[in-house]
Amino acid sequence: MSAPDVSPEDIALVHEVLQSDLLSMGPMVERFEAEWAARLGMPYAVAVSSGTAGLHLALIAAGVSVGDCVVTSPFSFVASANAALYEGALPVFVDIDPVSFALDPDGVASALADLEAGGRAAARWLPRHRPDGWAGGPAKAVIPVHVFGQPAAMSPILASATRHGALVIEDACEAIGSEYEGRPAGALGAAGVFGFYPNKQMTMGEGGVIVTGDEARARLFRSLRNQGRDESATWLRHVRLGYNYRLDEMSAALGLGQLRRLDVLVAQRTRVAAAYDERLAGLEAVTRPGRIATTTRIGWFVYVIRLAAGTDRAAVVAALAADGVPSRPYFPPIHLQPFYRERFGYREGDFPVTEAISHTTLALPFHGRMTDDEVDFVVSALERALCRATSAASPVASGKR
Ligand SMILES: Cc1ncc(COP(=O)(O)O)c(C=O)c1O
Repeated sequence: MSAPDVSPEDIALVHEVLQSDLLSMGPMVERFEAEWAARLGMPYAVAVSSGTAGLHLALIAAGVSVGDCVVTSPFSFVASANAALYEGALPVFVDIDPVSFALDPDGVASALADLEAGGRAAARWLPRHRPDGWAGGPAKAVIPVHVFGQPAAMSPILASATRHGALVIEDACEAIGSEYEGRPAGALGAAGVFGFYPNKQMTMGEGGVIVTGDEARARLFRSLRNQGRDESATWLRHVRLGYNYRLDEMSAALGLGQLRRLDVLVAQRTRVAAAYDERLAGLEAVTRPGRIATTTRIGWFVYVIRLAAGTDRAAVVAALAADGVPSRPYFPPIHLQPFYRERFGYREGDFPVTEAISHTTLALPFHGRMTDDEVDFVVSALERALCRATSAASPVASGKR
């Protein structure tokens, strides 16, 4: 489905660490942080061990705690909602926009207003099963997720969050290199979180970074990631509950090398996405990824198509697999994950747009080193798979390939 792009220069940087005496808490993390902050145009970047760790710390710093509400998307990787649960807060889901697949800003505005109003208005946003003693109240934070690299509608979300006193934490884990109205995704809210798992636009193996414009928050992140030590990281002096969310030097070195090539890595993915776009243009049974006007640059994370209603997706996946092409339904909604159904009583029908999108999406193999021939191979296999899987007489229009 994906493949990292590691260069000899990246490997040399990792070797440099391995030949040094500092494998953790050394200069590579600092170099990575300085260059990441500069790239994002933000004063502070704090490296952490994963995107999930970054989201957790961003919520702690936002003051989220037991019983608080955090408004977020059900169409995401599970970590964006789990982060609220780590602090005993309640993820309050709002349905998504059908083109961007990101949070619907009008839904966010209504949810924030209703949560603040409390009572029956608030109850309409809450799950059937709520934690014991849960009393509700205004949302503490909103986590817009920039799904598949496309930034959420940040201006209206920021405006309604400000109106209702909630902080916006951007989950930019999938939006490395993306821009919203000319500004980097992740640099627009109170904090922005990126993750560098190997399927991302750039990787560290495992790793993440939080960016913020607030010095006190950055200091708090540094303490929290390092077992709650005080600001000078004094030996074994712990002033708050902290975690081991440190990034090691090898990962930071790989990240530094990747960051220095990020524009090339993003451009390669743009080329592959354009190749898919062109070749899929004639296939009626397929809707290509949508763009919204506010997305001025997209750092492609995955290439996800939608299959026409009535297409047997499982049959398409099986037929593709038989031709040696992996594909994945992507994402299954968070609220319908077994753990969320069980704990919160969610059911099918709770978030109709998310579910409709989720039932029809299919991620195709995608990474920056794919050749045009490989894209051709995937698209040919997809055409054959659609012919076999679609019951209608002539489901696939003759394309202009
Ligand atoms: C939207 C989203 N949020 C959070 C994460 C978590 O990042 P990590 O895997 O680095 O913990 C991911 C990672 O895949 C993601 O896609």
